[in-house]
Amino acid sequence: MAFEALRSEALGCVRCTLSKGRTQVVFGVGDPHADLMFVGEAPGREEDLAGEPFVGRSGKLLDRLMQEELGMDRSQCYIANVVKCRPPDNRDPAPGEIEACRPYLEAQIDLIDPLVVVTLGNFAARLLLDTTQGINALRGKPYPFRRGQLVPTYHPAYALRSGGQGVAEMRADFIRAKRLLARPT
Ligand code: URA
Repeated sequence: MAFEALRSEALGCVRCTLSKGRTQVVFGVGDPHADLMFVGEAPGREEDLAGEPFVGRSGKLLDRLMQEELGMDRSQCYIANVVKCRPPDNRDPAPGEIEACRPYLEAQIDLIDPLVVVTLGNFAARLLLDTTQGINALRGKPYPFRRGQLVPTYHPAYALRSGGQGVAEMRADFIRAKRLLARPT
């Protein structure tokens, strides 16, 4: 299967120097036939150790909002990151690292062919919408994307830091995504 071939290729990737510091490549998790895909930023320490995206504190919020607003768990959608290997000390991914990793994300989106993509934070929204605008300006509405729509929302780590308001806005974005899944146009 093409998706498995892509995963195997990514697991051996040495296209950028992040490969030197990683414990594991964090390719993605979930159903490669899902209608809904989440795209985060980059693995952190816990994800690097587990080999799975969003398993730390941010992931707990993602799982909770997914369950409460979309009635699903991570096996019913697909979760990936812009960058598949952990940047040292959890620094932001560098432009060259994002470009080196981009073909994997593009191929994942091509093969999954989701109806709705929810981007988590600035990096995924800017990359996939090809914009320099920030998440505060972008969020609050969906954007046409491939065969469906893209819903930009905050990174869960940002929502956790910003308290109730950030989480409430993320919740509103998840409800937006749910409506689009039920009625795509
Ligand atoms: N933050 C991300 O953007 N991705 C992860 O997988 C974990 C934390």
